[in-house]
Amino acid sequence: MSRPLRVLLGVSGGIAAYKSAELVRRLRARGHEVRCALTRSAVAFVAPLTLEVLSGRPVDQEEYLVPGVAHGPEIEEAHIAAAAWAEVLCVAPATAHVLARLALGLADDFLTTTALAFTGPVVVAPAMHSAMWEKPATQQHAGTLKGRGVWFAGPVEGPLASGEVGMGRMAEPETIVAAVEAAAGSGPLAGRTVLVTAGPTHEPLDPVRFLGNRSSGRMGFALAAEAARRGARVVLIAGPVALATPSGVTRIDVVTAREMERAVHEHAPAADLVVMAAAVADFRPRRVAAGKIKKEEGLPPADIEMEENPDILAGLRAVAPRAVLVGFAAETEDLDRHARAKLERKDADFLVANDVSRRDIAFESGDNEVTVFRRQGEPVFFSRRPKPELAASLFDLFTATLSDRADRETSPAAGPR
Ligand code: CTP
Repeated sequence: MSRPLRVLLGVSGGIAAYKSAELVRRLRARGHEVRCALTRSAVAFVAPLTLEVLSGRPVDQEEYLVPGVAHGPEIEEAHIAAAAWAEVLCVAPATAHVLARLALGLADDFLTTTALAFTGPVVVAPAMHSAMWEKPATQQHAGTLKGRGVWFAGPVEGPLASGEVGMGRMAEPETIVAAVEAAAGSGPLAGRTVLVTAGPTHEPLDPVRFLGNRSSGRMGFALAAEAARRGARVVLIAGPVALATPSGVTRIDVVTAREMERAVHEHAPAADLVVMAAAVADFRPRRVAAGKIKKEEGLPPADIEMEENPDILAGLRAVAPRAVLVGFAAETEDLDRHARAKLERKDADFLVANDVSRRDIAFESGDNEVTVFRRQGEPVFFSRRPKPELAASLFDLFTATLSDRADRETSPAAGPR
């Protein structure tokens, strides 16, 4: 359970504003204090009195700061006081207009002046028509905000107010509550550092060609997102993939196995948990041609001489003796035997194995089905489910081991692992 937070909920003017009442109710049910700030157009969609009753506090409305109207000193200071009170600022729904104002630092009403004065974590839940969400202007503003560490809950795909189906629907209140708690670092992994690797590595042959594999990176990215949602500090070391960085995650892009190893060695000593979900190339071409290899007339290319890459996971215990180590194994046959052997050989605490010969759960799939082998206890089977859901199930398992280890380390009878 999260610790109680003081949440300033900004509501801007979109049809999804009707869901803010439910959001307030859920935040209160989790023990958080909520204070609502409405933009002028939000008032057209949700009655301030509704939010006032549900939050148990007066609602801040834009009309206090209508330009050109003289304000008393207590009103002038209201946004500073609100910014000082809040531990988390959550804007839900966040319209295209409010995203633009936040990105540009415009401060022309109560919500945006408070946002500008606020120094803590910010969560936004965008809601708009897909055409507005996809517009380069909006995408650029969203990118600016993400670059500053703003957490994004959604938007998601689904039915829109226009009757069409598309990207732009506000995330469900429970997702927004989870993002608020994660942004405040109050989840069950608060204070923990999790290192995740994801995606393939590319081993160059010449300036335009490489040897790679079919890993999409989706499982690793889902795991990094889940760790962040649970409040961990997350470092994600990603091979070449076309995926957006999850909210609250520090991403380091690498290309080759050796680059990945360097980045892992830099960050693993500080980690409590290392999840090696990347599909690291075992071998690389011994020589990388300086110029593009040309097709010789009538001659097939010569054999490519290969040399071995370092096994990052197998070398990790020496680098991060305290950390819980998790490996992945993609197998096409004899899954049980190979997985158990890898768990031992690589000295991991968990080995998450999946059968990539199955087309329905192979590399590019949104779903996965795995068996987790572990040092102590029987293997645990997780039936086919979407990768984000699987990431949550896996973290339930890893978190239990992390807590056990922490208990053992702090107890006077603590012995070796
Ligand atoms: N791994 C690694 N460094 C490598 C190869 C693999 O850290 N050079 C990690 C992967 O990230 C994964 C685990 O080891 O967590 C198992 O990877 P896999 O390729 O299945 O294992 P290999 O030892 O390469 O075995 P195989 O013979 O099946 O390729």
